[in-house]
Amino acid sequence: MGRSKLNSKTEREPSELLVLSRISAALSGLWDLDAILGVGLDNTLDIMNGTIGEVLLIDEDTGELSHVVHRGLSKEFLEKVRVNVGEGITGSVAGSGKAILLEDISSDPRVAHRDMVTSEGLKAYICVPLRARDRVLGVLNVASRVPRKFTTSDMHLLYAIGDQLGIAIEHARLYERLRKARERLRKLAQQNLEAEEEERRRIARELHDETSQSLSGIALQLQALIEMAEISGKENTEYVAGLKKVQALTVQVHKEVSRLISNLRPALLDTLGLVPAVRQYAETILQPLEMEFSVETKGAETRFTPEVEAAFFRFIQGAVGNIAQHSKAKKATIMLEYRPQEFAITITDDGQGFDVSEITDVEESGRGRGLFSMRERIGFLGGTSGIESETGKGTIVWARVPIGQEFEYAEDKSSGS
Ligand SMILES: Nc1ncnc2c1ncn2[C@@H]1O[C@H](COP(=O)(O)OP(=O)(O)O)[C@@H](O)[C@H]1O
Ligand SMILES: [Mg+2]
Repeated sequence: MGRSKLNSKTEREPSELLVLSRISAALSGLWDLDAILGVGLDNTLDIMNGTIGEVLLIDEDTGELSHVVHRGLSKEFLEKVRVNVGEGITGSVAGSGKAILLEDISSDPRVAHRDMVTSEGLKAYICVPLRARDRVLGVLNVASRVPRKFTTSDMHLLYAIGDQLGIAIEHARLYERLRKARERLRKLAQQNLEAEEEERRRIARELHDETSQSLSGIALQLQALIEMAEISGKENTEYVAGLKKVQALTVQVHKEVSRLISNLRPALLDTLGLVPAVRQYAETILQPLEMEFSVETKGAETRFTPEVEAAFFRFIQGAVGNIAQHSKAKKATIMLEYRPQEFAITITDDGQGFDVSEITDVEESGRGRGLFSMRERIGFLGGTSGIESETGKGTIVWARVPIGQEFEYAEDKSSGS
């Protein structure tokens, strides 16, 4: 399979198949449109022994072709030459999807920007459509400053290259759309978490300011009524017994509301920071189970922004909650490490463990949601997390988050506890 060249050289010519597989290898793994077009153009220039070339893509809305990548063309040419689909040689290739190969463009009557073609000294000229599924996405131009004849096999090869590039362009665009959609979803999920956190904070505040205050007021009033009854000699009546029952119940409800508040948004997290909030949380959750536990820290404690501290707290809350709910452990350790460039959390228990590979998704029952949202929260901070467990071997939950300046309070480096 022979092939002409824009500039005459006498080396052995590779077969069409070889050329195409070479381009396809060069394009594989590329997802960025500019990179794809650059590689496509350079390979075509190389194959045709050309030094001047460009790729133009069609703007679907305006019908204008714009230079995306180019080699060897003057700034003036790129600025002055504006083409619409249907205009001139490039525009007509974009419109018809039919390639044009010219021995000498400077004498062709279809040229739209004759002055520019002359001042660039363009002679041999190839314009091929970049097609994907019957649509023309743009064109590839290759030119030379000496005239040259082209053969039908050149034409076939260039069509094939154009189609290959067209499909690569379409893939890159699809990939970009997918990437954007994923990015939008990620943003949405993050906003959801932030809204949830804000809502929790609001409910916790209201529960604290209203419900909790009222409950402790009621408990005090009841206590006063009991004392009054006792003073007036009614201590053994059913009436006093009833009052005492209601009072005990009120104290109990008050405790439960406090627990609810600290689950929703521990006040300590906002005032003293992560470590005291985690200590208090572990106490309220693990102590009643008579589980031995410790909260340990390494490195100098620093404060992070409220959002970051909340994310860390929720991660730990998820892991500790799971220990309480599922582990049957005797002992649990929560380790928080303030390293120079990252913050690390490691939560270990010696419980029954589980088969991690079983949980690949959120199940209908909601099982898996806890682990999923823990991983997401750390992911949003640019960190990584994982869980290691085996039946009978306990569980380790870990997270590492890089700590940049943007996460830290510049003025408040005081320790939390
Ligand atoms: N520390 C642990 N010990 C034993 N099993 C655990 C532990 N942590 C998680 N699991 C297992 O992983 C599953 C998924 O946890 P999670 O996503 O938090 O959902 P949920 O707690 O609602 O079941 C749990 O149902 C449990 O089987
Ligand atoms: Mg859970």
